[in-house]
Amino acid sequence: MEPKLFSPITFNQVTLKNRIVMSPMCMYSCYEQDGIVTPFHITHYESRAVGQVGLVMLEATAVQPNGRISYEDLGIWSDGHIAGLKSVTERIHAHGAKSAIQLAHAGRKAELDDPIVAPSALQLNERFQTPHAMTKDHIAETIRSFQLAAERAQKANFDIIEIHGAHGYLINQFLSPLTNKRDDEYGGSRDNRYRFLKEIVDAIQEVWDGPIFVRLSTSEYHEEGNQLEDIIYFANQLHDQGIDLIDCSSGGVVRVKINPYPGYQVTFAEAIKQQAGTKTGAVGLITNGMQAEEIIQNNRADLVFIGRELLKNPYWPKQAADELQTNITSPKQYQAGWR
Ligand code: FNR
Repeated sequence: MEPKLFSPITFNQVTLKNRIVMSPMCMYSCYEQDGIVTPFHITHYESRAVGQVGLVMLEATAVQPNGRISYEDLGIWSDGHIAGLKSVTERIHAHGAKSAIQLAHAGRKAELDDPIVAPSALQLNERFQTPHAMTKDHIAETIRSFQLAAERAQKANFDIIEIHGAHGYLINQFLSPLTNKRDDEYGGSRDNRYRFLKEIVDAIQEVWDGPIFVRLSTSEYHEEGNQLEDIIYFANQLHDQGIDLIDCSSGGVVRVKINPYPGYQVTFAEAIKQQAGTKTGAVGLITNGMQAEEIIQNNRADLVFIGRELLKNPYWPKQAADELQTNITSPKQYQAGWR
């Protein structure tokens, strides 16, 4: 039987040739604080497409300048970012991979000198500034920034958009009762905490008809934070809104020590897939082909997101195929006697 890891899957008319996703990973490699793609980004993402990753997802890319984690982050807050991003998607597509971009805003986790914002004026720790609590105008402006970013992503020929709703960044700060202490309609009840993400999804869908993924922190590792049942509730809402996949990560809302082990987040992807009926992505210490195949074959998730292994080895899909005793295409230039 052919490994399912190398079977195609379609999201809203976009077909990935296999189930392997390059997980979004910040490279902090822009020059001069401009958020513009550099030659490093092109080489970095193109080489994973050469390595036969099905979906190459770009790192957290800031929708507003004060939503960056650092001054070296990639940006998509102006039309001046489109050309560079387009050159990355061109190189990804040249090797038969699809391209995605993770749209992000760091909120209180922005390590910048400029003023920073969050749902409530709560500092993460001494290393960070105390953020300004967002006004309603600011919330509306930020939602509009996600929408404009989606329009630019379309112009740059991305196939899929992922909304970064995890790791304690701005959207997660709204979702979590640990960081959202607002007393207006954006805080308090679960529906109120979900409102910011809901409106971002609506705003993106007005301008973008391709697949949308959302990355969530499916555990906050804190008894007063969102619990799995809350996350399943959010996942159901996202499903109703027509989201194509929930990418199931965890942590980052408050500082807690976790001890990751192989596949430590896979059970979250499995629970959400079963209980919210959405497709899911599994991520976190998925390191070999057998392990990835088990996840897909047992229907615990639809995609595997690979992070650090793909940094170590851009040809990880080939390594996984060898482990699963199957052949995958390599670029024609690497095939014996192609010329
Ligand atoms: C990350 N991760 C991450 N996640 C995310 O949603 N957006 C991002 O921009 C980043 N940036 C980032 C940079 C670097 C250098 C690393 C190592 C990680 C988390 C990443 O996508 C993934 O979820 C974790 O690394 C766990 O998967 P692996 O590495 O165990 O396969």
